[in-house]
Amino acid sequence: MTGRDNVLWLQCWRDRRTDFHQHAVNPLLAKFWPKLALAQGSRVFVPLCGKSLDMIWLAGQGYAVVGVELSPIAVRAFFSENKLKPVRRQRGQFTLWQHANISILCGDYFALTQADLGRIDTVYDRAALTALPEDLRKQYVGQLGRIVPETAQVLLLTTEDAEAGDTLEQTLGIAEEITALYAEAYEIELAHVESVFGADPESPERTEYKVYRLSAKPDSGWGRGSQPIHR
Ligand SMILES: C[S@@+](CC[C@H](N)C(=O)[O-])C[C@H]1O[C@@H](n2cnc3c(N)ncnc32)[C@H](O)[C@@H]1O
Repeated sequence: MTGRDNVLWLQCWRDRRTDFHQHAVNPLLAKFWPKLALAQGSRVFVPLCGKSLDMIWLAGQGYAVVGVELSPIAVRAFFSENKLKPVRRQRGQFTLWQHANISILCGDYFALTQADLGRIDTVYDRAALTALPEDLRKQYVGQLGRIVPETAQVLLLTTEDAEAGDTLEQTLGIAEEITALYAEAYEIELAHVESVFGADPESPERTEYKVYRLSAKPDSGWGRGSQPIHR
């Protein structure tokens, strides 16, 4: 069954309301990815991938990229805008689009199984967790725990707005929500924080761009081996 949020995302792509799309590779990816020291040929999962150019960058570094994206408009645009000619075939509930070392499963992330994804070594999340409404984020993280092996690390990029009353320590540290969602299963390292202030110099408004590196805690046993969530 298609959830309400899925309908909204599909409509976003139809209406071309895609301001989240970045027209260049994310500089924080290029800066922090090498620190993961992944072997060439490693398989990288990009959940809720849109038509992100970050996938082109990852593939260019010698990794096999596996994205999942709800909207066929996004997937088609990704391949055509990058002048790639993918092969398309049906894989259970998903349409698999594939060109060289880039595969995108078109369908619902929450319906994915481990078998759909195959081996995954690392997860790259930019605007995936944070694209979802807060009440779905726990399910997103639970689903991740079921479909990627516990050895997989996660590079998580977030954009966080300070809440009224937050101390500077809270604003610049690991967000409470990230701890609540991931600390049970992962060691959380905050690798980078970049503050961007609002245009008005009188305003205290600021946004923090953060890079988290999550490494699975050994034997947490968390979320593994259960069935995917069907909403
Ligand atoms: C904020 S965008 C981010 C896209 C990409 N990560 C980027 O950096 O450009 C979120 C994307 O997730 C997709 N999406 C939302 N819910 C999804 C779901 N349940 N399964 C698969 N994709 C989903 C949307 O269609 C949208 O393209």
